[in-house]
Amino acid sequence: MQVLKNKHILVGVTGSIAAYRIPDLIRSLQNKGAQVKAIMTKGAQAFITPLTLSALTRNQVYTDIFEFHSEYPIIHLNLTDWADLFVIAPASADIIAKLAQGMADDLLTSAALGCPRPILVCPAMNTRMYLNPAVQRNLNILEKLGFHLMKPATGNLACGVQGQGRLPDIEDITTWIESFFFPKDLKGYKVLVTAGPTQEFLDPVRFISNRSSGKMGFAIAKIAAARGAKTILISGPTSLRPSYGVEFIPVVSCAEMKEAVLSLYEDVDVVIMAAAVADFRPCYVSQKIKKTERLNLELEKTEDILFVLGQRKRHQLLIGFAAETKDLLKEAQRKLQQKNLDLIVANDVIQPGAGFESETNKVSLIYRSGARENWPLMSKEAVAMRLIDRIKRILCRIC
Ligand code: PMT
Repeated sequence: MQVLKNKHILVGVTGSIAAYRIPDLIRSLQNKGAQVKAIMTKGAQAFITPLTLSALTRNQVYTDIFEFHSEYPIIHLNLTDWADLFVIAPASADIIAKLAQGMADDLLTSAALGCPRPILVCPAMNTRMYLNPAVQRNLNILEKLGFHLMKPATGNLACGVQGQGRLPDIEDITTWIESFFFPKDLKGYKVLVTAGPTQEFLDPVRFISNRSSGKMGFAIAKIAAARGAKTILISGPTSLRPSYGVEFIPVVSCAEMKEAVLSLYEDVDVVIMAAAVADFRPCYVSQKIKKTERLNLELEKTEDILFVLGQRKRHQLLIGFAAETKDLLKEAQRKLQQKNLDLIVANDVIQPGAGFESETNKVSLIYRSGARENWPLMSKEAVAMRLIDRIKRILCRIC
């Protein structure tokens, strides 16, 4: 699933220390199939050279409005005609002021002024500069003029202080750009996704859990958000970072996940339970259990969150997953009915390339009507994309 395949991204680099991170952005966009060209201001060239970006983009890097290029005779207009999206990153306070005023005193500002395509501005500067009312006023003007803005990240700044002003993470900029090209067909819907395992503690240092990296659920949340849904992701402990635009609620145990899910249930249109919730929990003791030859653990059933959601279902569309090692479709069908679901994603977790941890998955869908679909092995993002397509279809039928 390559939404950026053959998309033309024009990157405008300006004079900020964060310019050193732009090679990573270019790589990241290229890895997703995009073609990239770059414009650099004079300030940008104080931090990285045009040669670096030429080598990476495998294209000439454009720096001078008065230089003639036979492939682009009117350089500041022809370049933006080529682009599907113009991304100004990092955007210095100076460029933001110039864009807000409509100035055109170099190639980048002239290209922006004549640009027929959407422009994304990613500010990066010192916190005091970013929070300066003049910069904030200019950013407000840009927003009103129809520019797309990403907020700078908070963290260590080049000047040695902590604060807001860092260029957003390259992964977040890439996700923003990918999302831009998705249809926004879930706009107006609220989608709740669960992911990851839950951990059920038996003492302060030990827990029992289920296998799950969270990749499947995180991919679903990413695609739902990219397609315009207000998306909330509730996840047990994983090493993953939620995608840009996804509201994230971390939890640990089944009880915490249940509480978080139920507190939002009334207000959402779709729930997708991809989490591998532990079915059992031990009795908790507050001191570390001493090592013995043998330890007998007594486990009690955790509450089945999806079952509770099924019981309380009103307007919500309820989608479950079934992780099985045998009788896949029979078991998934049983869970669909028992938990009052609209759709279940049956996941044979012992098939190669499917289930836990892998980048790919192979699933079958069973609808409430009894209709079934068997999907081939696909990346988890592709599974998420198709699943959202099917959910959209059901939502359209309901409306
Ligand atoms: O995270 P990854 O490494 O990417 O792996 C993805 C996955 C294999 C975990 C995922 O695709 C998957 O199959 N998730 C469901 C795992 C599971 O718990 O299946 P189950 O058949 O035991 O449960 C059925 C459904 O009830 C699930 O939607 C589950 O979230 C839900 N459930 C289960 C137990 C419980 N106490 N409460 C629940 O709500």
